[in-house]
Amino acid sequence: MVLSKLSLLATLLLLFVSCQDTPKTDGLQTQETPAQKAASLYSMHCAQCHGEDGKLGSSGAKDLSQSRLSDAAIIQMIKKGKNAMPPMEALLENAENIELVVQHIKGLRK
Ligand code: HEC
Repeated sequence: MVLSKLSLLATLLLLFVSCQDTPKTDGLQTQETPAQKAASLYSMHCAQCHGEDGKLGSSGAKDLSQSRLSDAAIIQMIKKGKNAMPPMEALLENAENIELVVQHIKGLRK
């Protein structure tokens, strides 16, 4: 009798724990592929100067379709900025997002 009460308790506990887990997966984030996330980060933070295709050149922005910077130089550019290009590290929040944007802008090259 004591044993079956215990196993009932254990089952309830397990159910409780597994229910706790579900709200963590935010619907929007799980459906977005890395490429989509990269594109939306770029649209949000870079396109106003560089344009969706990288060629806009607003406020003296360089044409990203012509850029031949290395990954390291792009990361430096994003983190520290240069002249009219503001530092974007805080806006992009983390290294993973910066890496996504690096891959995205390299995809704009011809
Ligand atoms: C406020 C306008 C502005 C925003 C927003 C902006 N940039 Fe720039 N970007 C510039 C300007 C201006 C330059 C040219 C800097 C210079 O060399 O004088 C530049 C240059 C660059 C370069 C160097 C290209 C080369 O070949 O020299 C890269 C790479 C770059 N931007 C990436 C990005 C990315 C990625 C974002 C978004 C996270 C972004 N930029 C957001 C204005 C902007």
